[in-house]
Amino acid sequence: MAQEKTENHKKLYIKTWGCQMNVYDSNRMADILSGLGYKPVEAPDDADMIILNTCHIREKATDKVFSELGRLRKHKDAKEEQGKKMLMAVAGCVAQAEGDFIMERAPYVDMVFGPQTYHELPEMVLKAAGEDRIINTEFPSISKFDHLPEQHTIEGASAFLSIQEGCDKFCTFCVVPYTRGAEYSRSATEIVEEAKRLVDQGALEITLLGQNVNAFHGTGPDGKTWSLADLIYAVSEIEGLERIRYTTSHPRDMGDDLIAVHGEVMKLMPFLHLPVQSGSDKILKAMNRKHKAELYRDVVARLRKARPDLAFSSDYIIGFPGETEEDFEDTMQLARDIGYASCYSFKYSARPGTPAANMQNLVLDHIASERLSRFQALINEQQLAFNKQCEGLELDILFEKKGKKDGQISGRSPYFQSVHVQGNERLIGTIQKVRISEGFENSLTGELVLEDGKVLNRA
Ligand code: 5AD
Ligand code: SF4
Repeated sequence: MAQEKTENHKKLYIKTWGCQMNVYDSNRMADILSGLGYKPVEAPDDADMIILNTCHIREKATDKVFSELGRLRKHKDAKEEQGKKMLMAVAGCVAQAEGDFIMERAPYVDMVFGPQTYHELPEMVLKAAGEDRIINTEFPSISKFDHLPEQHTIEGASAFLSIQEGCDKFCTFCVVPYTRGAEYSRSATEIVEEAKRLVDQGALEITLLGQNVNAFHGTGPDGKTWSLADLIYAVSEIEGLERIRYTTSHPRDMGDDLIAVHGEVMKLMPFLHLPVQSGSDKILKAMNRKHKAELYRDVVARLRKARPDLAFSSDYIIGFPGETEEDFEDTMQLARDIGYASCYSFKYSARPGTPAANMQNLVLDHIASERLSRFQALINEQQLAFNKQCEGLELDILFEKKGKKDGQISGRSPYFQSVHVQGNERLIGTIQKVRISEGFENSLTGELVLEDGKVLNRA
């Protein structure tokens, strides 16, 4: 019976690259397309529609999209040989930035549409199911959020909720202001309602998402403009919700009220991703970050005062044009001073259309690579030290999935570390106490603990 039921549905395969925002968007596309009878499937073969939800932030993003399209095309050809149609679509930030080029170079692609147009999907799909090819990279005046259906697609007990999109900061290396458009906040009223629905569907953790999430300023039920701090207070009152996170923040938008929330709302997890990009004021200026290293140090210190166990992660770009050895040493010093629980670092690479792409004073590739490995060695040391420090502690772990090893389950600590233990799969989707036995560079192992202190299982 169940089999018959799936066969009546059209099969939708979505491949998602990039940030959590894209994961959220893919789920919302699945929601809206369920209205047209589409159901998500795990594999592309025999799908009725394939969507590549793309990310433009990394190097060679467009090349990756074309090679994936090339691979997927054979499924479309096979389907066509059976006299059936498969719609192929490219969504996300590469679609926004390179829409015309994709349409021209890949004539078998039926639809190309940008991140602000997902609410128009049913209409676009109906047109493309005829013979039209669709390109839609508009920034419509009506927000997609007002026109997307309620969220149904939640995976596990940890859910994402987009609250803000776009960015007005224009860092000189970054494509986001061009691909995601101007900064826009959803209404706080709607967000709180969506958060309640997610909790009703089983979410124990909600991550509030936005490219510049702490610039959030949405209208609340009282008609006033709410800050992210106001929103976190309101969401924390939802019964059944255990954990709140938010990402990604800009140091300049860490308001006093938001800093205070970290000391007041215990559901807000003690881990913050706060990108800084460089420790050199000269480079920060060239990046148009609109803050100095000192401001970052100060914000981190004030946050630690509010919540002493707050752990930090960040993003750094190494080898930005004009970076000297001295600038790089300032970056190393900033990372040493902060002491990260984890940290992403990237070698600078030019994104077409961004101001930095025209800069002349490039750092030689081998120098940038060598600096990046020095930086990453420091970060690896810090990650290991942070994880080692957790040995012997009892931490609450939200289990999310099966582990790689037999009988293992994996989850996240409050500090966002991956934790693996031996345990029953039934514990996936629950929060359990775990005594940490060993800290590694990228993960922890431990043992489940019963409330009375008896150890359940060994990792
Ligand atoms: N080169 C290297 N890294 C970049 N990022 C964004 N644009 C570039 C670029 N042109 C990094 C930044 C950002 C993260 C998501 O990706 O560190 O915070
Ligand atoms: Fe890009 Fe973030 Fe800078 Fe906005 S603040 S331009 S999203 S790096």
